[in-house]
Amino acid sequence: MADEAVVRQAQLELQVDGFDFAWGLAADGLWAAYLERLDRLHDGVDLPDDVVKSTFYLAEVNGEVVGSTSIRYDLNEYLSEFGGHIGYCVRPTFRRQGYAATMLRLQIEVAREARIDNILVTCLESNVASAAVIERCGGEYEYSRTRPDGATFRRYWFRRPT
Ligand SMILES: CC(C)(COP(=O)(O)OP(=O)(O)OC[C@H]1O[C@@H](n2cnc3c(N)ncnc32)[C@H](O)[C@@H]1OP(=O)(O)O)[C@@H](O)C(=O)NCCC(=O)NCCS
Repeated sequence: MADEAVVRQAQLELQVDGFDFAWGLAADGLWAAYLERLDRLHDGVDLPDDVVKSTFYLAEVNGEVVGSTSIRYDLNEYLSEFGGHIGYCVRPTFRRQGYAATMLRLQIEVAREARIDNILVTCLESNVASAAVIERCGGEYEYSRTRPDGATFRRYWFRRPT
């Protein structure tokens, strides 16, 4: 409950980049209802059609929220083409300090523990920062795919080592 102010602030900050810091958090929505929704997503219960089980994390450094990251445990049609298993973002003032790379590495461990053998991570073709993060973490570029609205995504895999 105590994270409401910082998450709403970060949501505003990320709007500049066209991203949701907290997926689906509406400016006029009740915080308690949003937390209940996160619980349902985490537990994978009472989810609308086509919404998959997922867990949302805040990244905190010395008591300060620097970013957020989420893991989707299953892929629906959209996620398997464009969205992937893992998403992340870093608040503008905390960028270029390695936090995105750290979050992605930690999420890959979470995915491995959840027995996701092949982990898909994507980013917009124009998002050089995110592509660099994925490549730094060892993502293996597969190909790029374009959505009907024209947005092109780079697809990367983290495959379970044999
Ligand atoms: C993309 C994003 C998550 C990167 O976060 P970050 O914490 O700054 O990334 P890191 O510090 O972990 O960067 C690791 C490496 O990626 C590369 N990188 C990061 N930002 C970069 C940029 N703007 N331009 C070029 N390379 C960049 C660098 O090689 C960097 O290492 P270095 O700083 O030692 O050179 C952040 O810019 C962001 O939140 N953007 C908006 C939301 C978003 O794009 N999310 C990803 C959706 S796919």
